[in-house]
Amino acid sequence: MLNFLGMPVAASAHAGDVDSLISIVHWLMFVLFVGWGAFFVYVLFRFRSGANPTASYSGAKGHVSKYLELGIVVVEVVLLLFFAIPAWARRVGDLPDKSKAVAVRVVGEQFAWNIHYPGADGKFGRTDIKLIAADNPLGLDRTDPSAKDDITAINQLTLPIDQPVLVYLSSKDVIHSFGVYELRVKQDAVPGLDIPVWFIPTKTGTYEIACSQLCGLGHYRMRGFINVKTQAEYTQFLADEAKALVR
Ligand code: CUA
Repeated sequence: MLNFLGMPVAASAHAGDVDSLISIVHWLMFVLFVGWGAFFVYVLFRFRSGANPTASYSGAKGHVSKYLELGIVVVEVVLLLFFAIPAWARRVGDLPDKSKAVAVRVVGEQFAWNIHYPGADGKFGRTDIKLIAADNPLGLDRTDPSAKDDITAINQLTLPIDQPVLVYLSSKDVIHSFGVYELRVKQDAVPGLDIPVWFIPTKTGTYEIACSQLCGLGHYRMRGFINVKTQAEYTQFLADEAKALVR
């Protein structure tokens, strides 16, 4: 559908789904706007005081407005049942196969995004709030065997192209929101919850993670970046990070 809405670059597999829903809803709103606007102008003219010196207390008698409103209700129900709900179910229900997806934890805090990769073993190491320190914002327990190869980062989430990504989103303090417009992803990060968010990046590039919930005085500067790389670059990134851990 025509991108007259000025949408940002679409860089994920489901972006078209979201965009077409937004387009359909805006087209409907456009038709309603023009329709109601025209009706308003018609009524101003038709019921002008010059032609109607005395008020009518009985009001309109025709059924046109009733049918029109019924028509709009039908369109809205169709949009909800056949477009919005199925699109939503595809987004939140059909999580990708864990063995094929890149799993990563993203933990919001005032005012940064902490990134936690499971490393080569594919297992996230144990974390504990008691271990949280300036040099260990995730509270990762490095003595845990599955934590030894874990890679952490702040505000930089590197991901491969064309592979499902499964983000486990949570927060250390208040509600934040993981908003990545180019990927058409937005999900609140809620303390105490591990919320899965998934998407398939389809374009290499750097996309801003804009915190989309007012989370405190530093909210405006809470921004991270998703770096979508080619598979080869991503493998290299993981190898470099693993090497840095050993040193
Ligand atoms: Cu975190 Cu706004």
